[in-house]
Amino acid sequence: MNRMLDRVVLVTGAGRGMGRSHCVRLAEEGASIIAVDLASSSDDLATTADEIAWVGGACITAHADVRDLEALRSAVSTGIERFGRLDAVVANAGIYPAAGRSWELDDDDWQRALDVNLTGAWHTVKATVPQMVSGGAVVIIGSTNAIKGTAGTSHYCASKHGVVGLAQTLANELGAQGIRVNAVHPGSVGTPMILNDTVFAKLRPDLASPGAEDAAVALASRNLLGVPWVDPVDVSNAVLFLLSDEARYVTGINVAVDAGLLAKVS
Ligand SMILES: NC(=O)c1ccc[n+]([C@@H]2O[C@H](COP(=O)([O-])OP(=O)(O)OC[C@H]3O[C@@H](n4cnc5c(N)ncnc54)[C@H](O)[C@@H]3O)[C@@H](O)[C@H]2O)c1
Repeated sequence: MNRMLDRVVLVTGAGRGMGRSHCVRLAEEGASIIAVDLASSSDDLATTADEIAWVGGACITAHADVRDLEALRSAVSTGIERFGRLDAVVANAGIYPAAGRSWELDDDDWQRALDVNLTGAWHTVKATVPQMVSGGAVVIIGSTNAIKGTAGTSHYCASKHGVVGLAQTLANELGAQGIRVNAVHPGSVGTPMILNDTVFAKLRPDLASPGAEDAAVALASRNLLGVPWVDPVDVSNAVLFLLSDEARYVTGINVAVDAGLLAKVS
């Protein structure tokens, strides 16, 4: 219950999916949360705030697009004004634009993937790290696509491979200040990012209008444990460990929460 007592954590993409789960799980362990998402996600952010309150946590919500460094800095200032310090950050916001073969991808989709997933993560650390206290920790959310390419997603894969370099460089730069930096790589996770008709159709081109159960069959065959997806809280538990003192000597590593997707041979 107290693994994050008196810690203040900023989470991006906090309105739904894994971002919301990270906020609630960290709050359950005593953290105060600065929950950041797009202005268009204000209803979602309000639900995140309600769920944090439900577990007895404190939070403020802030609107910022991770492509907008000044908006992120403003969210950090508001959070520090409210809570007095900043201990940790989870650079979680991300998008999965329309898939396609590399040479056919839309220019805007390519650029948006890089801008949100990679530059957004860099902006998040740029806005937060100078304000963080010694003993702090950063987690950047990558993907199994940060380690391994898959057909049809080179914009996403390239952006996520980039965050591995960002995290490992930061770990080298910040170790002397006592700040740890690690990357967490989810496999398939049951969030709106993948639980939607577009992804179902991509996974099951053999069916006219596939649903979640049809997609589940395809996804379960990709990992060692035969589960279609992990739950957001499974990823949040890894994030919690890496931000907590239990990981006080853990920095510069990649943690996959993927039911063995990366380890599976063919
Ligand atoms: N769901 C998966 O299977 C999966 C797998 C591997 C990695 N990931 C990664 O995990 C992270 C969270 O994914 P999720 O599944 O919870 O996604 P999601 O789509 O459910 O939620 C993403 C959140 O990020 C916010 N967001 C999007 N663009 C933003 C921007 N420019 N600025 C600020 N916020 C923005 C959205 O509003 C949303 O609330 C992402 O980085 C994603 O790439 C997801």
